[in-house]
Amino acid sequence: MPSLWRAGAGVAAAGAGALAYAGLVERNAFTLRAFELPVLPVGADPIRVLHLSDLHLMPAQRRKVRWVRDLARLEPDMVVNTGDNIANPNSIEPLLHALEPYLDLPGAFVLGSNDYFAPGRRNPVDYLVKKRVRPRTPRLPTGELVEGLAEHGWRDLSNARGALSVKGMRLGLVGVDDPHLNYDDYDSVSGAADPAADPAADPAADLTVGITHAPYTRVLDAMTRDGAELLIAGHTHGGQLAVPFYRALVTNCDLDTGRVKGVSRWWPGANGLPSSGAPPRAAWMHVSAGLGTSPYAPFRFACRPEASLLTLVPSDARRG
Ligand SMILES: [Fe+2]
Repeated sequence: MPSLWRAGAGVAAAGAGALAYAGLVERNAFTLRAFELPVLPVGADPIRVLHLSDLHLMPAQRRKVRWVRDLARLEPDMVVNTGDNIANPNSIEPLLHALEPYLDLPGAFVLGSNDYFAPGRRNPVDYLVKKRVRPRTPRLPTGELVEGLAEHGWRDLSNARGALSVKGMRLGLVGVDDPHLNYDDYDSVSGAADPAADPAADPAADLTVGITHAPYTRVLDAMTRDGAELLIAGHTHGGQLAVPFYRALVTNCDLDTGRVKGVSRWWPGANGLPSSGAPPRAAWMHVSAGLGTSPYAPFRFACRPEASLLTLVPSDARRG
């Protein structure tokens, strides 16, 4: 066999192997990531937040359901769910079974596009090259989903505010509906007409938390300017197909790939970076790579599906 053919056959075999690994192994290799975030007032007790995102649950994914239920061993104090829960109209019941150990805890959620519209058949490469695709797929039972999540008291923060009392702390919450669908309307929940005069979105809150499915910069800027000190988001899938030892190639929104998952700081107004004109206070941000994929792009590479335990701890910066 000519050497060029041999090389081509080798590349094809390696590609097929990587695809099989991404679709059969890594997509189901759920992992827990843990972070400590210094956002509470001095003297506060730590608060353990379980952050779940992007389950994209199919009715037959019983292993994923069991894995999520088993996270109850972490004994979280509260739960944040940043959307894209379901991938099928029949997924509501298994989803609520997966979340059942947490529904009586203090909790909050926002919705993603895959809480509104069923996934559609797409070229997986689209995920890498297109910023946004208008859904033309059937509607999912969003009302039933919201009812199931909110029934025990989880706050629906889709263009809404709320508050939770957790371990003696008042958490002010503000959220938006999915920015990836342009459903976000931050003006309708903006806490201060003049942020310069009153930057606290909820003046009575010990901590203000901004929650969004997709971390578009316009939303992160608006929340931070409005006093949010902690931002929590999902949607990116961590890039889903990342380059090992390098980074993700996309975030599926206008966030930079350096923040595709994990913890970073967010200064408003300059793509999250500090600038000379920026306010001195930056928010902490956590973006989850989520637990699922579209059933039509069932691959993950160098980006394991994840849930996160965020431990909120006191910050010296908040002394006095
Ligand atoms: Fe998603």
